[in-house]
Amino acid sequence: MLEKICKFVAGIVEGRDPDLDGHHRRLGQCARAFARYIGCSVEEMELLSIGARIHDFGKLSISEHILNKPARLTASEFSLVKQHTDIGFQLLAPLDIDPRISEIVRFHHENFDGSGYPAGLAGTTIPFLARMTRILDTFDALTTSRPYHLGVSGDEARQLLQREAHFYDPDLLRAFCTMAPAIGQ
Ligand SMILES: [Fe+2]
Repeated sequence: MLEKICKFVAGIVEGRDPDLDGHHRRLGQCARAFARYIGCSVEEMELLSIGARIHDFGKLSISEHILNKPARLTASEFSLVKQHTDIGFQLLAPLDIDPRISEIVRFHHENFDGSGYPAGLAGTTIPFLARMTRILDTFDALTTSRPYHLGVSGDEARQLLQREAHFYDPDLLRAFCTMAPAIGQ
């Protein structure tokens, strides 16, 4: 049932934001590879895969005009977009799903150095699977062309991640950068 909910949610989000086409599906696949690579349990791998595919669920509440804007967002537009994490978390609440999935939805924009949102969590206070999703999401965003930037190669994306390493869990980033070329990313 959860699998069906995920496909339903990802389809709606991608339907509203065509540039996200395939983003969630790719994230789900890459999440499995990443979880397997670092030795997560099968349960964690499944939870990460589901969470990665629906992490932007809250974008359903953001205006299409803002989501598809082919230019840099204004400060007030960006503050609206930032709300997608808490909104997604609140929308999922009635489903009573595993809290580790809800945590991915809520905390996938938290930075390891505490500079992220919505709560400004830092270090290992950020839930583990959300720290993994932070890396997966950014890597996919960097390598995919969007209205406001051209996607870069996997090598370039890894260099960019390492250039801003303070945003990410250092152990997870090291593992991801070792793994990604091995799976052709
Ligand atoms: Fe997001």
